[in-house]
Amino acid sequence: GKSTTSRAVSKALNLLHVDTGAHYRTLTKLLLDRGISPNSEGAVVEGLQNVALETVVEGRSAFLAVNGKRPDDADIRSEEVNAKVSLFAQIPAVRNKLKQYQRSQKDIAESSAFSGLIMEGRDIGSVIFPEAPHRFFLFADSTTRTQRRAAEGQKDSIIERDKTDSNRKTAPLTCPQGAIEIDTGNLSIQRVVERITQTIGK
Ligand code: DC
Repeated sequence: GKSTTSRAVSKALNLLHVDTGAHYRTLTKLLLDRGISPNSEGAVVEGLQNVALETVVEGRSAFLAVNGKRPDDADIRSEEVNAKVSLFAQIPAVRNKLKQYQRSQKDIAESSAFSGLIMEGRDIGSVIFPEAPHRFFLFADSTTRTQRRAAEGQKDSIIERDKTDSNRKTAPLTCPQGAIEIDTGNLSIQRVVERITQTIGK
């Protein structure tokens, strides 16, 4: 998947790796813990007030910490979060809360010893960094993706989530103009990584 691929590219090219799906998952977990439903936009807006976003760099990856705490990976990849994250991610207040934060990751990469930033997510090439020097749009058919999730031991309704993510009004999942499309369905991770690193190296 895109996380495995982008982590491998980050290693090959000494780039700071940022998984923005984890950002949406982290806010989803926080809001769910506060008993807030994605159906109540007002409650979501209120629930995000006084939530401080900070960055923890560990190895080659940057992680989002909220109010001083970085959540456990298991907690943001639970079945409950899988089921709700798309619903929270379509709320403009949630996306706006993360937009500046995600753009600020570029400065963190630059002020550290990294050669640059690799950021993965559905709207990075379209909304967050439309001017990035290299933009890649990875896709695979939903059968392949469901199989990959299952291989990770995760239960996840990929098809449902794809539909919500592609049809939402704010920053829908789409291949932005000018991005390089890669069909990962019948390519090994290694081949995808090579394609990306070779393109960047040119
Ligand atoms: O990549 P992932 O499965 O961890 O992402 C979880 C959800 O977060 C995804 O269903 C939609 C949302 N998301 C988003 O809306 N925009 C991003 N840049 C990244 C993720």
